[in-house]
Amino acid sequence: RGRLLWLYSSLCFMCQSCILSPDHQGKLKYLLEPLAHADIVARRGENATLPCILRTRPSNYKVKWTKLQPQHAGQENIIMISNAHAFKRYGLLGPRASLPKAHTMDASLRLRGLELEDGGMYRCELVNGIEDENVVVTLRIEGVVFPYMSKNGRYRFTFREATEACARQDGALASYDQLYRAWTEGLDWCNAGWLLDGTVHYPIVNPRPACGGELLPGIRGYGPKDKNHDRFDAFCFTSQTSGSVSYVSGSFSFEQAGHACRRQGGELALVGHLYSAWRFQSYDRCDGGWLRDGSVRFPISSPREHCGGIPEAGVRSFGFPNEMTHLYGAYCYK
Ligand SMILES: *[C@@H]1O[C@H](CO)[C@@H](O)[C@H](O)[C@H]1NC(C)=O
Repeated sequence: RGRLLWLYSSLCFMCQSCILSPDHQGKLKYLLEPLAHADIVARRGENATLPCILRTRPSNYKVKWTKLQPQHAGQENIIMISNAHAFKRYGLLGPRASLPKAHTMDASLRLRGLELEDGGMYRCELVNGIEDENVVVTLRIEGVVFPYMSKNGRYRFTFREATEACARQDGALASYDQLYRAWTEGLDWCNAGWLLDGTVHYPIVNPRPACGGELLPGIRGYGPKDKNHDRFDAFCFTSQTSGSVSYVSGSFSFEQAGHACRRQGGELALVGHLYSAWRFQSYDRCDGGWLRDGSVRFPISSPREHCGGIPEAGVRSFGFPNEMTHLYGAYCYK
């Protein structure tokens, strides 16, 4: 019903736009100006509709949807080209794209089964050969950013290794925007990590001498670094998962923890799985447990004194303890 209301109000808006106050009249003739600050927000696995509504229909036109790639300027990433009668899909996103055509003026694009990398800017372009017009819609994947460090210690990843490390934890290297948002939500981390654009940053909420001194709170930057030779940690991004995380209590070595999960029909959870459960299910458990990468962590949604003693919510880490001599429970993913 929400969608119908949205549709109804956008149709009304279209009929009235010519008689509304001047600030409702954009510079566009054929396309409806998108609402300001109206990013589309959805989680991994969900479907999203990127709105693009015609105000007037030229007699002969095409609509072209592309994903903008600021990193690869000059490369056009076409998803869909359509006219009043037909459409054709292109590229990697094409197979998951469709045109809902909720009404005759609707040129919106629907993306199915969203993936972590789908966030970004999309352009809806009306091509009629004379006065081409376009609007840009931003899709934001709702998720969580987590710092990730190698088992071998601090600052061990090249850019490529950081990308792979995030993927192995059910994540993707975070963008600057994702890190920025995480910082506004309280992420404070004293080690620098790679971001998707090849820069290295770290977010500080509480400035302190040990973390770059008493500068203002914010995202501290090391600027662009040599992707092949410089080594840092990683900031990974993940979102909703299709499975669920549960805890098996016990005193397990790392290997025994793996068996404990398999007995329950699952396997040890990845770091991304635990962060996702913490972020989207408010998962809260005051017990350290093994994860598949050999780290021991626990998720805290309601901070309390005897649970790590840190006043903020978060996923706490015991690092990578000795896999044979240290005994913990297990976080399983099914
Ligand atoms: C997404 O759309 C598909 C059909 O295209 C549908 O089967 C599925 O249930 C939808 N998923 C969600 C989360 O709404």
